[in-house]
Order: sequence, then structure tokens, then C-alpha cells
Amino acid sequence: MIETIKQRWAAFDASMAAVSTLDQLNRLRVDYLGKKGCVPQFLKDLRGVSADAKPAVGKRINDLKTHVETALEEKTRVLEAKSDEAGGKEFFDVSLPGKKETAGSLHPVAQVMEEIVSVFYGLGFGVEEGPEIETDYYNFEALNIPKDHPARDMQDTFYVEEDLVLRTHTSPVQIHVMERRQPPLRIIAPGKVYRHDSDVTHTPMFHQIEGLMVDENVSFSNLKGIMDVFVHRVFGERTKLRFRPSFFPFTCPSAEVDIQCVMCLGKGCRVCSNTGWLEILGAGMVDPAVFRSVNYDPEKWTGLAFGLGIERVAMLKYGINDIRLFFENDLRFLKQF
Ligand code: DAH
Repeated sequence: MIETIKQRWAAFDASMAAVSTLDQLNRLRVDYLGKKGCVPQFLKDLRGVSADAKPAVGKRINDLKTHVETALEEKTRVLEAKSDEAGGKEFFDVSLPGKKETAGSLHPVAQVMEEIVSVFYGLGFGVEEGPEIETDYYNFEALNIPKDHPARDMQDTFYVEEDLVLRTHTSPVQIHVMERRQPPLRIIAPGKVYRHDSDVTHTPMFHQIEGLMVDENVSFSNLKGIMDVFVHRVFGERTKLRFRPSFFPFTCPSAEVDIQCVMCLGKGCRVCSNTGWLEILGAGMVDPAVFRSVNYDPEKWTGLAFGLGIERVAMLKYGINDIRLFFENDLRFLKQF
């Protein structure tokens, strides 16, 4: 039996020399140390060996076992180090961080739009939409802005054709809705508008939300109350607001609404040009001329209207100083919202 053990020893050394992967090494381990492997088999066979030969044979088997174990251990270390160097092809590092799934999110302009819409929705305003290409009539004339009137200079217009424009504001949606429906009305109209204008606070396309409420006895104090709720919900309960007389052809009287500067809280800074106030929207009581163009009786109905720029609200809310950031789609910017 000593002879057989010697042969298997030599065979083991030869196989070991040929091993080059951890897989092969494992197979060798099973062949020699596994339950049905060579070493356990020798130990079983030892029972049949005569009493005087037993100690010597037993010692041989144990020597083989130790030899196999040390050789396997050593080779394991060598092969693992090798595979590490080779870029860890066979080596799995459980301490490395896993791959994260990145979730998408709404664009900040869409988020602010949804927020504003939900404030007005809570006040009973329904959402309406209108076309982005308008006729001269809906964008200007029906809103009391006649051809050749200097008020047209307020908005730099993109003309598609002689009589077709990219809408310069969401106000024409007022006309579409009033042509379709009878008062009482309470609607807002969010959407894209276009103007030939481009700098740090203007882009050729931007978003507005229009508001219109028509009923009997709608008054300027209704307008003030609604603007109060809007400003407090969107900018915080403690934000002060003020109404400043202004002019829009489609409202009379007209006003611009300012909020206390969100940067300096009214003290005066660069952002508010040291006035302590920031303009956020235009508003007023619907001009009787507008009611006449949709065949509403101006003696019976009164209305309030307002229009605000969504990017402007978002810029003030988040302290963003360049409107173009919204449209560059730089993830480092967008991920912050
Ligand atoms: N359409 C105006 C603009 O784009 C904003 C506006 C002002 C809308 C007063 C209104 C309003 O409904 O009453 O500059």
C-alpha cells in the first residue's frame, strides 16, 4: 500500500504543477480530500492493514494529507493574487458599492407650474388650454389691442404669416373660453408663449399662466384676495405683496403685483434694484371692450384677470439668476429640484 500512496503523491504533484485556475484547483481538492477522494479512501483501506504495518502506513497517509492541504492552500493564494492583478476577473469584491438606479423627475418649470395650478384649482379655477399659433384677432384685436396701436410694442412678436402669430401671451385663451361658454367662469390657462427676446431674464419661448374669473359683482377686492392666497402659498405666508397701478389694454383698472424681495427681504439689493420689491405678475378688471368682443353684456358681467410668467416665479422662488439655465438641460442644474 505504501507504493500506491507514493504513486498518488507523485500524481498529485504532477497535477498540481499543471493547475492554472481556481476551478481546476477545486477539482483537485475534491479528488484528493473530498468524501470519495483519494485520502479518505486510503484511510478506509487502512482498516485492512496488518497491525504491525499500520503505524507506518497511517503515517504515510497523514503525510500525504498534510502535503495536499498545504499545497492547495499555497496555490489558492498564488492564483487569487494573480486574478487580482489581472483586473479581478475571477475575484468578486463584495465591498464595492453597487450600481444605483437613478430616478427621473419633473423639470423645475413643470414643478412650479403644477404647484401654481394646484393653488388655483383649490380656489375653484378649472384648467383650459389654447393653440400656440394664434390669429392676429385672438392674440391682439379681441384683447383690445387694435392694429397699429402703440400697445403692440409691449410684446416683440414672431409672425408666422401676415395674420398668424406665435402667441405672445396666454391671454387669447380668455377669448376662446368666453366664446364657448357663458359666465360664471373661473379658469386658468397654463402654456407656452413666444417673444422675440433673449437675455438673462428672457428666452424666446417661456411659460405663462393666465387667470380669468367672470361673474356678477366680481370686484377688485376679489382680485386682491386671490392674489394674496397665491403669493402666500407659493412664496410663504409671510411674503408681503403690493399692487402698483399699471396699464394693459385688456384690463381697466390694471395693476402689477410686486412681492417683497425674496433675496434681501425688502432691505434693498442688486436683485430688486434697491427697491425692496419684485414684480411678479400683471392683473386687472376685464375691460368692457373685451366683453363686447365675445358678446358678453358689460353691464351685467364683471371680471378679473391676471397673467404671470412661470420661469420668473421659479427664478424668484429658487434664487436662480439666469433664465437660460432652465433650457440648457444640464443635469447638474436639474438634479437640484
Ligand atoms: N398678457 C400680459 C403679458 O403677457 C399679462 C397679463 C396682464 C395678463 C394683465 C392678464 C392681465 O390677464 O389682466 O404681459
